[in-house]
Amino acid sequence: MAKVTIDGKTIEVADGTTILQAARMIGPDVAPPTMCYYSKLKTSGGYCRTCLVEVSKGSEKDPRPMPKLVASCRTTVMDGMEVKNNDSEKVTEARKGVVEFLLLNHPLDCPVCDQAGECHLQDLSYEHGSAKTRTDFERRTFEKIDIGPYVQLHMNRCILCYRCVKVANQITDGRVHGVINRGDHSEIATYVEEAIDNDFSGNVIDVCPVGALTDKTFRFKSRVWFTKPVDAHRNCDKCSGKVVLWYKGEDVLRVTGRKDQWGEVEEFICNTCRFETKKTSDWTIEGPRKLDNHSVISANHYEFLKKPKELTINTVKPLAIEGGNN
Ligand code: SF4
Ligand code: FES
Repeated sequence: MAKVTIDGKTIEVADGTTILQAARMIGPDVAPPTMCYYSKLKTSGGYCRTCLVEVSKGSEKDPRPMPKLVASCRTTVMDGMEVKNNDSEKVTEARKGVVEFLLLNHPLDCPVCDQAGECHLQDLSYEHGSAKTRTDFERRTFEKIDIGPYVQLHMNRCILCYRCVKVANQITDGRVHGVINRGDHSEIATYVEEAIDNDFSGNVIDVCPVGALTDKTFRFKSRVWFTKPVDAHRNCDKCSGKVVLWYKGEDVLRVTGRKDQWGEVEEFICNTCRFETKKTSDWTIEGPRKLDNHSVISANHYEFLKKPKELTINTVKPLAIEGGNN
């Protein structure tokens, strides 16, 4: 076992645990943001540098600080280690730089992007980005590509996190896409225009942290915050059949896997559940999906919303007096 302290909070974890995993065990207050790590995918992480932290004490045996910031998703804890995440100015500064790099080629087309409202890069930019850009060269652009009947690739938005490649490697029975070329020429592409076409290919949409891989059956149908998420399940012989149905009125506009508090799919679902069963009668409804209060999707779902104190200051009393009711 190893004792590690992150932003002043101590936890004891099993040897081999990464700093990121330990931070998540402590809670969201100290957990670094991630863009490429995905706990359900083996060997993910190490690509985006969003999760950088400062190790101010290496271990009990060797208390020297680590000379550089480290990727918390790839660095294992040592007994007595002390880590700074939110408490470190160096980390705040570095994260700002990482956001700037991630946005170098990413278009600012949130108003027309289907991922808006549930985009991890959008959240990261709000929390750690700067309001101005320092670059004045043109962003690289690509034609949109249909990869199979259900998925569209908009490479302009890709941040090369490799999650979709890992999904294809680990969840589906044959990968036909990957990262080709190197450096700033790197791009996600299918080999010789092949379609991504197998039972679990739709999961690349759920793991993509930005709007690079989108659901062709949902594109431009609605902003996500106008839809109502509902937990539902069905008997499925390929996957667990546990999904979220996204309703607008009485129509199911899309079906996705259920995501945990880190925005990661709990169980990968098959294409039949995702794309081919969009009638309410196909499903056993469990009830409204619990939403994080901070999510923009919760905007129209007041049942989980806690009113901030500053909004409740005496607004009722003066109105009541003016109206003469009380
Ligand atoms: S398409 Fe999406 S999931 Fe795949 S590497 Fe690009 S950003 Fe990551
Ligand atoms: S989340 Fe650790 S490097 Fe991307």
